[in-house]
Amino acid sequence: MYNSKIAGLGYYVPENVVTNHDLSKVMDTSDEWIQERTGIKERRHVIKGTDTTTSMGVKAAKIAIERAGIDKNDIDFIIFATLSPDYYFPGPGVLVQRDLEIDTVGALDVRNQCSGFVYAISVADQYVKSGMYQNVLVVGSELHSHGLDMTTRGRGVSVIFGDGAGAAVISREEDSTKGILSTHLHSEGQHAEELSLIAPGMGKRWVLDILKDNDPEDESYFPYMNGQFVFKNAVVRFSEVIMEGLQKNKLAPTDIDILIPHQANLRISQFVQKKFGLSDDQVYNNIMSYGNTTAASIPIALTEAWEEGKVKEGDLVVLAAFGSGFTWGSAIIRW
Ligand code: ACO
Repeated sequence: MYNSKIAGLGYYVPENVVTNHDLSKVMDTSDEWIQERTGIKERRHVIKGTDTTTSMGVKAAKIAIERAGIDKNDIDFIIFATLSPDYYFPGPGVLVQRDLEIDTVGALDVRNQCSGFVYAISVADQYVKSGMYQNVLVVGSELHSHGLDMTTRGRGVSVIFGDGAGAAVISREEDSTKGILSTHLHSEGQHAEELSLIAPGMGKRWVLDILKDNDPEDESYFPYMNGQFVFKNAVVRFSEVIMEGLQKNKLAPTDIDILIPHQANLRISQFVQKKFGLSDDQVYNNIMSYGNTTAASIPIALTEAWEEGKVKEGDLVVLAAFGSGFTWGSAIIRW
C-alpha cells in the first residue's frame, strides 16, 4: 500500500458577477432575503457562448497540474464530477482528456452532485493507494446558470447556485504520516427526488419518446429542492460523517485545524461549526462570493484556503459534503 496526497490545486470562476440586486430585477427576491437565509451576496454566471462545464474544468486542471509540479502527460487517470455536463453523453471526463491533449488515459465521470468531489477523491485515493496510478486528476465543475428557472417560480433554488470549477491532482506520497488518511461515503436514495432535476429523461413510465413526451414547459426541467427537508438532513449528515472520519483515525474535533465544508448554505456551515466548537478561522466559507457551485465548491474553497495560507503543512484538514441523492461524505487529510 502507498499513501496518497493532494499534490496540486486550482480553480476557475467566470468573470461575470451576478449580485442579489441583479437577481431582484428578474424575479421577486431581495438581497436581504437571500443573505439572511443563505449568506450569499453574489455568484458568478457564465456569459452564454463563452465557457462550458468542461472548459472551466480544464482551466482549473491546468493550474492544479502546474502546481503539482508534473507534466500533463504524467496524469494516469481523470475523474470528473458534475451534475451539469456539456452533453447528455459522453461525460466531460473524456472531453478533458481531449482538451488537455493527454494520452489515452482512462476517464471516469462521477454523478454525485454536491458530494461529487468527495466521492471523486475517494476513488482517486484508492487507485493511488493500491499502486495502480501515481497521479490522478480530479475535477469538479458546474455550469448551473444556463439551467436555472430565473423567474419568480424558480427563486427558491435559482438564487443559491453559481458557476465555477476546481481541480486537484492526487499523487503518491512516500511519507506515511501525511496525505489522505481516510474517506467516508454514504447515500440514501429514498430521498432521491427531494433535490433533483427530473427531465428530460426516460424515468417516467409514460415517457416513450424523449422529444414528444417531455414538455419543456414542465417544471421538472428545472432543479427542484425541498429546502427545509434538505437543510434538516444536511446538518445531521454533515455532523455524522465528520465524526465518523475523526473516530476512524482516533481523532477528536479539537484536532481539526481547518474544515472545508461543501458550500451549500452559510447557515449549514455555521450549524456544523457550532456543533464541533470550531472558531471562524477553522471553517472556510466562500459561499458569500460564489453561491453553491455543487461539485466545484470544495475544490474552489480548498484552493482559496490554501492560497491564503490557511492550509499548512501538518494541518488536519477535513472535507465534508452533503447533497442530492441524498449522498454525503468526508475526507480526513493530514496536509
Ligand atoms: N426570495 C424571496 N422569497 C423567497 C425566495 C427568494 N429567493 N425563495 C423562496 N421565497 C419565499 C417562499 O416562497 C416562501 O414564501 P411564503 O412563506 O409566502 O410561502 C418563503 O420565502 C419561505 O420559503 P422557504 O422555502 O420556507 O424558506 P426557507 O427558510 O426554508 O429558506 C432555503 C429556503 C434557503 C432554500 C432553505 O430551505 C435552505 O437553505 N435549505 C437548505 C438547502 C440548501 O442549502 N440547499 C443548497 C443546495 S443543495 C446542497 O448543496 C446540499
